Amino acid sequence: MAEKTGFCFGVQRAYNLALSATEVKGGPLYSLGPLIHNPQVVGFLEGKGLRVISGPNELSEGDRVVVRSHGVSPKIFEQLKERGAQIIDATCPFVKKAQEKLTQLEKEGYQVVLLGDHAHAEVQTLLGYAKSKVKVINGPSDLTSLHVGKRVGLVSQTTQRKIVLQEVADLLISEVDELRIFNTICDFTAKRLEVALQMAKEVDLLLVVGGRNSANTCRLTEACHEILPDTYHIEDPSEIHLAWVKNKSQIGVTAGASTPEWVISEVLGRIQEVVFEREKRKPAMVFLTS
Ligand code: F3S
Repeated sequence: MAEKTGFCFGVQRAYNLALSATEVKGGPLYSLGPLIHNPQVVGFLEGKGLRVISGPNELSEGDRVVVRSHGVSPKIFEQLKERGAQIIDATCPFVKKAQEKLTQLEKEGYQVVLLGDHAHAEVQTLLGYAKSKVKVINGPSDLTSLHVGKRVGLVSQTTQRKIVLQEVADLLISEVDELRIFNTICDFTAKRLEVALQMAKEVDLLLVVGGRNSANTCRLTEACHEILPDTYHIEDPSEIHLAWVKNKSQIGVTAGASTPEWVISEVLGRIQEVVFEREKRKPAMVFLTS
């Protein structure tokens, strides 16, 4: 089992803020979009009274609203205030840093290039901080059709891979006179990936646990799959197929930043059951640290 599993700092902070809000008296409590990309946790918080809404227009005066770790654009903040809602801001500080750096580059006159997934909420929010046209790229291959000026500023969605940011920077440098890069990739994502990649080299089956809508879980899976084809993304223990475990002697488990410890424990429990059925003995468990 990878040591760096469970909620990352930003998700833990958002979860704590939301949970505390459910425990105090106040107006109806909402989160703007699912608080984190994990259906089990969203369901658990719903049971505590946190309801998911999709926009500020669903709020009334005196309601409380949690802004999730991806943050929201200045325009949405304004709309929340106009509705008279009490805002609980759980924007992750790493996401805030990316917002600040993008704004800074734009103010200093750079053509901003943003490495990220255009459809992801964090990228959409980042675009909300820009006054001019930011060019969003998914990876180095998008650069071939990209027309940029001579002064380019490069930032990244927090959950991208450093190696991809590096590749993009290497290609851009030959096209422009000036390239300013801010590494806005969050440390938690980078460390977790590093440990997972090491694990993919050492085991013969790797399970990556996390919501299907979690960008960092998908990226962990993709990266590990490049090393170990027997890498599978699962949301819960029921998805573990017996056939995967057949003839495997070392099984690795890692998880995305929004996967709670209890889901990981359930997965470990299920692996123990499956291995026990196969061999009539409990597997040994070790923790891989970076
Ligand atoms: Fe924040 Fe990084 Fe988590 S950006 S929400 S600490 S994955």
